[in-house]
Amino acid sequence: MCGIIGYIGSRQATPILIGGLRKLEYRGYDSAGVSVYSEGTSRVVRCRGKLANLEEKLTREPAAGTIGIGHTRWATHGRPSDENSHPHKVGPISVIHNGIIENHLALRQELQASGSHFASETDTEIFAHLVAAQLVQGAENLTAAVRRALQKVRGSYAFVVMSDKEPGTLVAAKNSSPLVVGLGEGENYVASDVTAILAETRKVIFIDEGELVTVTREAVVITDFEGKVKQREPKIITWSAVQAEKGGFKHFMLKEIHEQPRAVADTLVGRVDLENDDVLLDGIELDVKKFKRIIFVACGTSYHASMVGEFMIEALARIPVEVDLASEFRYRDPIVGPGDLVIAVSQSGETLDTMEAIREAKRKGASVLAISNVVESSIPRLADYSFYTHAGPEIGVASTKAFTTQLVAIALLAVHLGRRTGALSKERARVLLSELVQLPQKMTDIVDGAAQLQVLARRYGKAHGFLFLGRSSQYPIALEGALKLKEISYIHAEGYAAGEMKHGPIALIDEHLPVVVLVPKGPHYEKIVSNLAEVRARQGKVLAIATKGDNDIGSHADDVVLVPDTALELQPILTVLPLQLLSYYVADGKGTDVDQPRNLAKSVTVE
Ligand code: G6P
Repeated sequence: MCGIIGYIGSRQATPILIGGLRKLEYRGYDSAGVSVYSEGTSRVVRCRGKLANLEEKLTREPAAGTIGIGHTRWATHGRPSDENSHPHKVGPISVIHNGIIENHLALRQELQASGSHFASETDTEIFAHLVAAQLVQGAENLTAAVRRALQKVRGSYAFVVMSDKEPGTLVAAKNSSPLVVGLGEGENYVASDVTAILAETRKVIFIDEGELVTVTREAVVITDFEGKVKQREPKIITWSAVQAEKGGFKHFMLKEIHEQPRAVADTLVGRVDLENDDVLLDGIELDVKKFKRIIFVACGTSYHASMVGEFMIEALARIPVEVDLASEFRYRDPIVGPGDLVIAVSQSGETLDTMEAIREAKRKGASVLAISNVVESSIPRLADYSFYTHAGPEIGVASTKAFTTQLVAIALLAVHLGRRTGALSKERARVLLSELVQLPQKMTDIVDGAAQLQVLARRYGKAHGFLFLGRSSQYPIALEGALKLKEISYIHAEGYAAGEMKHGPIALIDEHLPVVVLVPKGPHYEKIVSNLAEVRARQGKVLAIATKGDNDIGSHADDVVLVPDTALELQPILTVLPLQLLSYYVADGKGTDVDQPRNLAKSVTVE
């Protein structure tokens, strides 16, 4: 997820671009850059790090001109570096991009074979080469060149392209990544979000999927990818700047809950090999036979993702798995060595305990794979292998989209391992991969039903405590549901393995204790239904999270939230969504500081 902005008019572009990028930094902040056109050529100024670094560089290398594009990056393909920063310039063409080009490897090879040289590791630079090549091959103008280049790329994207040969025009295109055009008097804008241009104009046109837009000082022409012109009325934005940053949602957390279908789709891009019923791990070559055991180390929500990972990997690859809290592992002189693969899971890639756990594991000869959301953060840099989630920056302290993308990354890894240990048949792999690909749609169905959770939050939100119950891979989801609720609403909540309830928490149950029970269909269904009966026999209030089509559950619970069916191993990726929404609405009802709950930090880089 990156931030993009373009300006064309008669004022100096750079201050407008920087002003917009400042508003977009929440979309990415590992590097930034601008390309500004003046007197026959555009000048690219870009660098690694926060926007302040770019501003500082621009004082030394000013970019004057009245047409330009700017970008703030959150790395996916290619580490954060000066060379990988956008804009990418090839010949007369400057390009900025948000999203992922799925077929980037094949395109890069094709372009290299025909003599193109690459200056970066990014997928974006490919598009600059493609557009430049179309112009050489006779495309009549920039719009035609972009249209032809788009025929070759697959994936999710919003591009903005500028050419030194046609300086009065910006061309932008959208597929799955947001794009908006801002209208001014004798000047126009393009951006990934309205927030970037609100200081300049409130009159905007939202660009739809599969649309290309040609923007000049005086005109905006929208077409589909075949060139058919589309008419669109502008809208006037009434959001405040703060609302706009949150995409119209009240809090970043709610926005991020709703972003999960996209985040999961982006994490799957380029990795699911449906032709061979296999998973590609971004070129990682694991010596699977070498590993007799896998040990997950992580903290907080990432620890819960790791616990689900234990079920996924043991079920699909039949490799024994252990899961440890990083803060425990690092101090208990763990028995770990060359036959072990340690998987460190960390959204931020900066958590100190996880980092020290890796150091301990490496000292003892284990191999380390990092799963992180931040390219080239400290943990991936320490690890032998890195596999990234593509959730984009997570701003809310309570982790949501980072968690579900971690689960997806681990599921991909489990399928990859299972195909190599021989434990997972081609047929079962095919089913799982097809279910993985359907997850974004199913997640959309759940978040679209958020209003039900809002009602339930009102019904249960006055309670002084909550109990969350689940079995097998739903047990970590019970823990995660309880963690989410206590983090942001400050209501005490406990997650428990449903079978353990009779060994303690049952003493807590009375008519004042809401019990959230994860009861999707599966081998333990009846066992959980008996747990649920035990709760109700003691007047406990039961909120069941069950599978669509389960017509019986209603008679065992006070309230039921239904989620779509999926493969057993992937169910946690769906059942956690209602729990995130429930916590959110309970906390919002109490009026707590949802995005920055008291005493908590997003990234814990101290002990
Ligand atoms: C903090 C955050 C949690 C997060 C944990 C681990 O406690 O508030 O949301 O789960 O750190 O962070 P990591 O970046 O390593 O996943």
